[in-house]
Amino acid sequence: MAARVIMVEPFDLVVFGATGDLSVRKLIPALYQRWAAGQIPEDARIIGVSRRKLSDDDFRALGRDALLKHVPEADRDEAKMGSFIARLSYIPADAGEDAGWPDLAASLGKPDGRIRVFYLATAPELFGPICEKLGKFGMAEGGTRLVVEKPIGKSLASARAVNEAIGQVFGEDHVYRIDHYLGKETVQNLMALRFANALFEPLWNSAHIDNVQITVAETLGVEGRAGYYDTAGALRDMVQNHILQLLCLTAMEPPTSLAADAVRDEKLKVLQALVPMRAAEFSVRGQYRAGASAGGPVAGYLEELGNPASRTETFVALRAEIANWRWAGVPFFLRTGKRLAARVSEIVVQFRAIPHSVFDAGAGAIAPNKLVVRVQPDESVKLFVMLKDPGPGGMRLQEIALNMSFAEAFGVRNPDAYERLLMDVVRGNQTLFMRRDEVEAAWRWIDPILEEWAASSEAPKSYTSGTWGPSAAIALVERAGRTWHEDED
Ligand code: BG6
Repeated sequence: MAARVIMVEPFDLVVFGATGDLSVRKLIPALYQRWAAGQIPEDARIIGVSRRKLSDDDFRALGRDALLKHVPEADRDEAKMGSFIARLSYIPADAGEDAGWPDLAASLGKPDGRIRVFYLATAPELFGPICEKLGKFGMAEGGTRLVVEKPIGKSLASARAVNEAIGQVFGEDHVYRIDHYLGKETVQNLMALRFANALFEPLWNSAHIDNVQITVAETLGVEGRAGYYDTAGALRDMVQNHILQLLCLTAMEPPTSLAADAVRDEKLKVLQALVPMRAAEFSVRGQYRAGASAGGPVAGYLEELGNPASRTETFVALRAEIANWRWAGVPFFLRTGKRLAARVSEIVVQFRAIPHSVFDAGAGAIAPNKLVVRVQPDESVKLFVMLKDPGPGGMRLQEIALNMSFAEAFGVRNPDAYERLLMDVVRGNQTLFMRRDEVEAAWRWIDPILEEWAASSEAPKSYTSGTWGPSAAIALVERAGRTWHEDED
C-alpha cells in the first residue's frame, strides 16, 4: 500500500532554540520533508526564536544550510526548498528578559482556533522560564500545544520540578513529551506486530517466552556533547527514556484502543511493575577507552572529556524483571552503549525450547525460536525457525531466519521519527508522547540504581572502543543461563 499523505490543518509552529543542534539537524529537515510530501498547507508558519539577534533572512539562510547538510540529496528539490524556506521567520527573545516576547505575541495574534505549537528545543533549565513567559504574554491560551524534549530532569525530584513548572501554564492534555524512539517506524511496528496478528499474542507471556533482550548500540562516541553527557551517562541518556519505552511497548497488555491514554495507561503499568533493581548484582557499567570504531582509531571517553577522574558510564547492561502475571520470572536484558562494535537497535524475543525432540542426534541442535525486531539500521522483523536442510542425507535441521526487510518489502523511504512526531503534534495525537506519570515512574525505577552506583566504590569497567562493552555484560546474561543474541548478517 502506498504511503497516504493527509494534509494537516494550517498551523503556527514556534521553535525555541531554533538555531541549535536539534532544530538544525532534525526539526527543520523533518518539516521540509513533510512540506515536500505535500502534508503541510501553504499558510503554515514556522517561527524560529532564540537569543541570537538574527533577521528573517539570516534564519532562512540558516534553514537552507540545514537542508543542504541534513536532507539527503535525492530528497532535495530546489523549488520545494525555496517555498519551504519562505515559510520561515524569526524573532529574537531571551527567556530571562521581557524584550522580544510582545513581538512574538503580536506576530501570533489572538488565539482564533488556529493550531499553535511551541517546541522547546532548548536546554531543559529553560522549560520553566519559557513557559512562564508564554503565560505572562498571553500565548498559552486557546488549546496551544507545548512540545518538550528529554532530558526531563536528572532524577525523580528534578523531573517533578520541571513537570510542575510546565503544568503551571499548560494542561497535561496539551503537553507533548518527545521520546523520538516512539516515532521510529519499526517501534510502531511492534504494536502492529503484536496487535494486528493473531500469531504472537497467545505466546506473548512467561509460559512461552524465555527472555527478552533490548539492545541500543551506537558506534558514535559523545560527539562534542561530552559536557552534557558527563552529567548524564548512559542510564539517564538512553535507558530512562528510549529503552524503557521499548520495554513498555514490548511488555504492555493490549490497550483497548490506540487512544493516547489507553496506550499510556498500559505502558505506565509496566513501569510500575518493574522490580526495584539490586544494582550490584544486576547492572554493569562501562566506559569506553581508545580503540577502533567505524573504520578508524578513536580516543577514549576520558581523553575526549579531558577529565581523567570521570566515572560517567558510556555503557550499561541491566537485568530487569517485571512483576506481573504475564512476565514474572522472564528476564529482560537491556543494554546500550557508545563506541560499540556496530550500530544496531533491536528487540529480541527469545521463545522457550521445545519440550521434547522427536529427532535423533544426527539432526543437530534445535535452537529455540526467536523474534527479532530490528529498529535500526536495516529495519526488519526476523523470525528464526528450525527447518529441514534441503536434499538427501537424512533429517538434518537448520535454523533459518524468515526475514521481512521493510526496505525490500515496501520500497519507500523510512521517514525520520521527527517527521511523524511533529505531524502528530499538529494533529493533536498524544499516543506517541510520554505522559507525566510515565516519565516519573521511569525515574522512580532509575533513581535507586543511580544512588547505588554513586555509593559504590567501584568505577565503571573500561572497554575497548569497537567491542560489545565490558565482558561483565556477557557474564551478566550468562549467569542467568542465557546469551546475547548475535546475528551473523
Ligand atoms: C539521544 C541521545 O536521545 O538518542 C544520544 O541523547 C543518542 O546520546 C541518540 O546518540 C540516539 O538516537 P538514534 O535515533 O540515533 O538512535
